Amino acid sequence: MAEEAVLGFLEKNEEIPDSGHFADERGLSHDEIVNVIKSLNGFRLVDAQDIKKEKWVLSDEGATYAATGSPEFQLFLAIPEEGISREELQRKLDASVFKIGFQQGIKNKWIEMGKSQVVSRKVQKVDDKVKDLLLQIQGGKAINREDADALKRRKLIAPQTWKGYSVKKGPKYAPKRKKAVTDLTRDNLLRGDWKDLEFKEYNFLAKGLPPEGGHLHPLLKARMYLLRTSSFPLNAPCITNKVSVLKKCTKTSPDDFSSNGVWPVIIVIYIYVFEEMPTNNYVESSFWNFDALFQPQQHPARDSHDTFFLQEPSTTKLLPEDYVERVKQIHESGGYDSRGYGYVWKREEANKNLLRTHTTAVSSRMLYLLAQQPFAPKRYYSIDRVFRNEAVDRTHLAEFHQIEGLICDRGLSLGDLQGVLHDFFARLGMSKLRFKPAYNPYTEPSMEIFGYHEGFKKWVEIGNSGMFRPEMLRPMGLPEDVQVIAWGLSLERPTMILYGIDNIRDLFGHKVNLDLIKSNPICRLGLQ
Ligand code: PHE
Repeated sequence: MAEEAVLGFLEKNEEIPDSGHFADERGLSHDEIVNVIKSLNGFRLVDAQDIKKEKWVLSDEGATYAATGSPEFQLFLAIPEEGISREELQRKLDASVFKIGFQQGIKNKWIEMGKSQVVSRKVQKVDDKVKDLLLQIQGGKAINREDADALKRRKLIAPQTWKGYSVKKGPKYAPKRKKAVTDLTRDNLLRGDWKDLEFKEYNFLAKGLPPEGGHLHPLLKARMYLLRTSSFPLNAPCITNKVSVLKKCTKTSPDDFSSNGVWPVIIVIYIYVFEEMPTNNYVESSFWNFDALFQPQQHPARDSHDTFFLQEPSTTKLLPEDYVERVKQIHESGGYDSRGYGYVWKREEANKNLLRTHTTAVSSRMLYLLAQQPFAPKRYYSIDRVFRNEAVDRTHLAEFHQIEGLICDRGLSLGDLQGVLHDFFARLGMSKLRFKPAYNPYTEPSMEIFGYHEGFKKWVEIGNSGMFRPEMLRPMGLPEDVQVIAWGLSLERPTMILYGIDNIRDLFGHKVNLDLIKSNPICRLGLQ
């Protein structure tokens, strides 16, 4: 309707000088006309020029007086012929009407006050000019400058800029707009009408609709990135060389290989090199979580204050008996050049089910399985959830995620472990590392890993590592000259640093900020 009016008018006339008058004359809403003009102007069917006009609008107070009359007029009417005491008049009127009405009444010389505080009319009859002027403005009519200034001083009206358009035919003017077509159909081709169709231009800059659901949690993004990094061929010379050659010629990070088709090939090799461990069992027996790792049964970590034990089913029934026997032996009296711990090892303790406290429980299962076959070197990694009975605070949760990695081969040394860790962390953007001697029941030597955080300008603890003890490996059946270097890190720590989150509860658990989950950027550890 509005569009037809505009285009139709321009067919017979040179110009629409003022969109406001144009809308008024036709009883159309000006907003609607403006929308049509903008759209037609965008497609260059018309050529629109801005017009700005200052116009007056009523303030709230002005609108009230337009309806009820000005205070001075109300006050005048409230004065009887014989006059009235000021006090009584005040009682008859609203406080503001009295105050303003009195002032204006005196000023207009409509009223006067005698010595005994009696207010009386000074003239017989008055006109409410203020109300009339306000009604005129409300009706869109112009009033003279002097009157407008007086009303403005009383804050009954205020200026407002009115925006409209003057419109002429544009270079693509047509009396009727052809609807631009978005799709070319089979029928268009068969009928041949495609020749006359006007196609809508493709807008490559249009934003897609933001998806309603399916947002990836920052932890999952960091995990995805790390999975790629962990499955990278750490210290595997042939593959590393290939990567650096590609790096040189493409000048991109290894991540960008996916765009030139090389990446999938490399992934196949990586997976072959570092295998992901099956971490789907959150429930583990104490045996695999602790005993197989040469962790004595009196160790404080095995206390219910630190570990969640299961009530139902409270114990495991399936353990490899001959291996259990060898583990019992090594704990009680040693073997393979070890003295053992010299205590009475209890099977009931080993049978207790728990929520795994570290993913090293999975490493122990995997190494045991590996030992059941003729020896072949292996590299394993995993990233998954672990549970600890901890008091929750800004940096601790009762469930979190660990990144675990291990290499099992002949002739490995602490130097290999340090080299691998340097390689791994360099890929995450941390090239300065320090190692601090530490203690784990299952590794010797053991090292805590510290990384220099360039943002915080300090050393932060980023993980734990070591060489698995013979007391752990030999009862499994691994050959004497086979060593295992291993490391474990939290996933939360790098993720928090990366996303600038200082309270772990904002990242994970029931208090997370859902907006953060919906709008966090992609994870490019070390490549910021
Ligand atoms: N399991 C250790 C932890 O939870 C990490 C670790 C893994 C240490 C492997 C040494 C070797 O902290």
